[in-house]
Amino acid sequence: MSAFRFPKHFLWGGALAANQAEGAYLEDGKGLSTVDLLPAGEARRAMMKGEVPSLTPLDGQFYPSHEAIDFYHRYPEDIALFAEMGFKALRVSIAWARIYPTGEDAAPNEAGLLFYDNLFDELLAHGIQPVVTLAHFDVPVNLVGKYGSWRSRELVALFETYAITVFKRYMDKVKYWLTFNEINMLLHLPFLGAGLVFKEGDPIKQIQYQAAHHQLVASALAVRACHEIIPDAKIGCMLAAGNFYPYTCNPEDVFLGMEKDRESYFFIDVQSRGEYPGYAKRFFKDHGLSIEMQPEDAAILKQHTVDYIGFSYYSSRTTSTDPEIIKNMTSGNVFGSVANPYLQKSEWGWTIDPKGFRITANQLHDRYQKPLFVVENGFGATDSILPDGSIDDTYRIDYLKRHIAEMAEAIQDGVDIIGYTSWGCIDIVSASSGEMKKRYGYVYVDRDNEGNGSMKRMKKKSFDWYRKVIASDGANLGGE
Ligand code: BG6
Repeated sequence: MSAFRFPKHFLWGGALAANQAEGAYLEDGKGLSTVDLLPAGEARRAMMKGEVPSLTPLDGQFYPSHEAIDFYHRYPEDIALFAEMGFKALRVSIAWARIYPTGEDAAPNEAGLLFYDNLFDELLAHGIQPVVTLAHFDVPVNLVGKYGSWRSRELVALFETYAITVFKRYMDKVKYWLTFNEINMLLHLPFLGAGLVFKEGDPIKQIQYQAAHHQLVASALAVRACHEIIPDAKIGCMLAAGNFYPYTCNPEDVFLGMEKDRESYFFIDVQSRGEYPGYAKRFFKDHGLSIEMQPEDAAILKQHTVDYIGFSYYSSRTTSTDPEIIKNMTSGNVFGSVANPYLQKSEWGWTIDPKGFRITANQLHDRYQKPLFVVENGFGATDSILPDGSIDDTYRIDYLKRHIAEMAEAIQDGVDIIGYTSWGCIDIVSASSGEMKKRYGYVYVDRDNEGNGSMKRMKKKSFDWYRKVIASDGANLGGE
């Protein structure tokens, strides 16, 4: 038993996203979402970056989001399993195109609204708080074709309308909200993060930062609406976090590490501190970018800052100015990183760094002085079913145990962390690869990369382990 007990009100749980779990991609009036255009396999990565050949699904391709794990129909069974583990919170997202199928319909889609009513009721009936992301990598495709998605200012008002609709509808059910999932993803996978499609010769950086400005204003307007409509709710931002280490103490490496961190902090500096930081203004000037802003934007950003900082943490990152060193890159939640010789990697090349979690949490606390909510953390791995039908995911337990232990240290460092929803608490489609094989869950789903399988749910070894972690308020990480 670890000596540390997390506070009684700590929000233990798991996290999912609509497009990776629900399936039913056109059911009950839902419109097509950007993520519904992302096939499994080779073509996926280029599309996520913005090379999108068609705004309709193509014959002969497999699209994992179309059925996903059929959470849309099976959520009662899944929620019962989460309740058995003792979840206090489940993070889900609303698919914007379920509520407004084209993104600009005159009235919302009642069947879509009803689905989330039922989902939230089911959670609340099990004593599980919904934590809801307004946009988790999905934009109604109509808005991409018509306006170029977030490159257009039009999206700001349309998103605000959507946010107001769901705040009003779920005001009695949902008290924790997040605006844009991993808002900094827009700089790395712009179609995934913001529905941005590029043509040859497009000024990519200019378009990205203009779209970022639109998302930042839309996020602030959603914060305003949430505070007005649900005064007892909390609304946060969401950062794909994980600090950059300089490869050496050469000041050039250290400075580059700081700049790389600022690429991500930039978003949260605006969402949490309410204004563009000086380094961003310099970056725009040095790169010849000019961001169009409306006269009211500065006041909107300043007045409607977030209540808490939501973040995902999978790994730290490393950077170097040495051309020889940067030949040895590895992946890690999509952000390129130099391989860190002190750390192991997952099968997908994601660095495993529990101490980095404590460092990142401390830095976010030092910088923002607001509560933190760990809304994603977890270990993507291949699982196999043993002849006796059990699934031994000791490697996942090991990853989670070491990360939760560092989170306990961070809290003892004085960092205010209000909850922990581990990613993919039931196996879902991988966002970056489109695979099912990259599993994060405590619950196994019988489905493979090609879409075969019965969708049957099975408990893994980590299921019981996490149940004991929650039951002991985080004191029992050993599974005794
Ligand atoms: C985060 C996303 O980037 O990481 C999730 O918010 C995603 O949507 C998760 O699934 C894990 O990444 P992947 O690519 O392993 O699914």
